[in-house]
Amino acid sequence: MNDNRTHILGISCHDITRAVNLLHQQELVAFPTETVYGLGADARADKAVAAIYNVKDRPEFNPLIVHVASIADAKRYAVFDETAERLAQHYWPGPLTLVLPLQYTHNLSGLVTAGLPTVGIRVPSHPVAQTLITAFDGPIAAPSANPSSRISPTTAKHVLQELNGQIKAIIDSGPCQIGLESTIIRSMNNHIDLLRPGHITQENVESLLRLPLKRVTDEVEISAPGQLPLHYAPRSIMRLDVRYPEQDENHLGFGEISGDLNLSPSGDLTEAAANLFSYLHRLDVQSRPIAVAPIPSKGIGYAINDRLRRASAHKTAHST
Ligand code: TXA
Ligand code: MG
Repeated sequence: MNDNRTHILGISCHDITRAVNLLHQQELVAFPTETVYGLGADARADKAVAAIYNVKDRPEFNPLIVHVASIADAKRYAVFDETAERLAQHYWPGPLTLVLPLQYTHNLSGLVTAGLPTVGIRVPSHPVAQTLITAFDGPIAAPSANPSSRISPTTAKHVLQELNGQIKAIIDSGPCQIGLESTIIRSMNNHIDLLRPGHITQENVESLLRLPLKRVTDEVEISAPGQLPLHYAPRSIMRLDVRYPEQDENHLGFGEISGDLNLSPSGDLTEAAANLFSYLHRLDVQSRPIAVAPIPSKGIGYAINDRLRRASAHKTAHST
């Protein structure tokens, strides 16, 4: 692989070994998770992690999520309080990222945490992600595999469209099942905050813990800088809560509002979440303004609206 092409790998043992070797050589490999495709690098290697920031054009203050294979592995990098332990036992492997104090013996690159005293960590459930991390036998730093502020990728093709020639390889194992990035919860001294909504909802977590979960997704000085206003954005202008689009607009429908493309004709929010980024990618290539039908903010609908709001934020806003 001594060329600048981006290689598409499958999920055979041979291809996973190639991916692992590339990671050991401090190269970048995109891989599937149950949420979105991640842009993976050895989380201990400064050079590899720096390459992620470079390829994504990502502000250096925005820390990366570390992917590990098990709770035991996570404990090498993060300090778990009682709440974190319960959340991990219940939701891992799965679409949950925990932001926890850094373990003082950690050997992660300082670029991963962007100098914060905390680390974002998760155990993905996708079998290919699990196989890759286990075979690599180390922590993999992985943001979503898109240029900063652009739409997250839910297929290998999306990754290739945006990063072709800039990364060594993409492991292709079809579309991601959930299609929205993981829920992020910060737990420190048994105090918990929701930093990013996702498939695991605020209600799910509150009923598990019997504790209120504070949403800090819109605080200005929050420690999830990735949650800045403009994010996940298509190139076209986008309007939300639109029942009746203008003639020149592409209408993204939901439920009874059929639109040009419908996120879920039956009004199923989980299906809508899985289709969201993929449909935005499709509409994006048509360079017409986009109008999105109203989506109810209940359950995972809250996370869908969070992403839509950020995708439609004013284009001059500072983004990550
Ligand atoms: O589903 C996901 O989480 C995907 C897949 C690939 O795992 N990853 C992902 O990564 O969405 P990224 O980099 O696009 O978003 C990570 C978010 C950012 O908003 C970042 O600011 C936040 O996690 N984050 C990471 N470490 C943090 C920390 N120590 N404190 C607060 N926020 C943190
Ligand atoms: Mg992202």
